Amino acid sequence: MGLNIALVGTGAVGSTILQVLDERNFPVDGLKLLATERSAGKKVTFRGEEYTIEKTRPESFEGVDVALFAGGKASTLFAHEAVSRGAVVIDNGSAFRMDSDVPLVVPEVNPQAIREHKGIIANPNCSTIQMVVALKPIHDLSPIRRVVVSTYQAVSGAGQEAMDELENQTRALLAGEPLEVSVFQHQIAMNLIPHIDVFLDNDYTKEEMKMVNETQKIMGVPGMKISATTVRVPIMRSHSEAITVETADKISRDEARKAFGNAPGIILQDDPAGNVYPMPFFTSNTDEVYVGRVREDLAFDNGLSFFVVADQLRKGAATNAVQIAETMLEFGMLGGQS
Ligand SMILES: NC(=O)c1ccc[n+]([C@@H]2O[C@H](COP(=O)([O-])OP(=O)(O)OC[C@H]3O[C@@H](n4cnc5c(N)ncnc54)[C@H](OP(=O)(O)O)[C@@H]3O)[C@@H](O)[C@H]2O)c1
Repeated sequence: MGLNIALVGTGAVGSTILQVLDERNFPVDGLKLLATERSAGKKVTFRGEEYTIEKTRPESFEGVDVALFAGGKASTLFAHEAVSRGAVVIDNGSAFRMDSDVPLVVPEVNPQAIREHKGIIANPNCSTIQMVVALKPIHDLSPIRRVVVSTYQAVSGAGQEAMDELENQTRALLAGEPLEVSVFQHQIAMNLIPHIDVFLDNDYTKEEMKMVNETQKIMGVPGMKISATTVRVPIMRSHSEAITVETADKISRDEARKAFGNAPGIILQDDPAGNVYPMPFFTSNTDEVYVGRVREDLAFDNGLSFFVVADQLRKGAATNAVQIAETMLEFGMLGGQS
């Protein structure tokens, strides 16, 4: 069975969604590529056929089974228009994630939440997705009480223009020329910026509070204590996270390594003696969440620390969205299946 797909947004995440749909042989019958006037008219090739990007309009969603949104503000403007025309929306933006009637889904963690959807399913924030995939096998061994996480986030997390900015600044810096700063608050080349999204009243950033609130919702533990520090670093792709958790009961390093090794979607890369641990340069363009540096933590009695890396354009966005659609197919919930 083939599906009629609309993709809203053809930037960093949108173009990766096309790649992932193709690689995973997702059954696409019809495809509409939608963006703003800026990209309208551009040609994109998918499975050997050429498609023309169109400006997004409410009528664009007529006859669409699944609308994959990767278009920033497009979600608030058009998601309900798509749903009212019978499409299921899988949204990469943050607008609906905390709505009580919108499932927030990472298929390795809470696939059953999909069954409760009322038209819109949200993809979590990229930093949240890779963290919850790693938290799940630990939480299954013993409930997690507390999480402390620091992130090292690639510039592609801020979209195509941010990738261009790092490249241009690095070239200018090496050539001894003046730098232009427009996407980030400060120069990102040869720097890091402990500031992603806006600061809130509690002195955390919105990105940090997304990691708190979304993790609690996905894990189904509203009281889980989480503190995040999110930092932008001058690499192109793949976010890294240093995570410390406190669990109800003690989990040994070996038990944790075994749980990570057996968990869906995780590749354990943990051989300190052989200098083996996850690194963003090597995880880019892959779909798994890589876990290493697993150790019993010195600051918490029942504590574990580990390092988690994943390609946030793929598992943190495109792949997770396509996995949600695949799970819906498995559940018989798409394109008139039932
Ligand atoms: N980058 C990541 O790692 C990441 C991870 C998870 C989630 N996300 C989320 O995914 C979404 C896309 O991010 P991105 O990194 O792909 O951004 P991007 O590279 O800047 O691309 C944005 C795309 O959205 C389109 N768009 C913007 N406003 C629109 C509107 N009002 N109507 C229709 N299309 C519109 C743009 O159209 P034009 O081409 O015409 O300008 C462009 O194609 C954002 O909500 C972002 O927060 C990003």
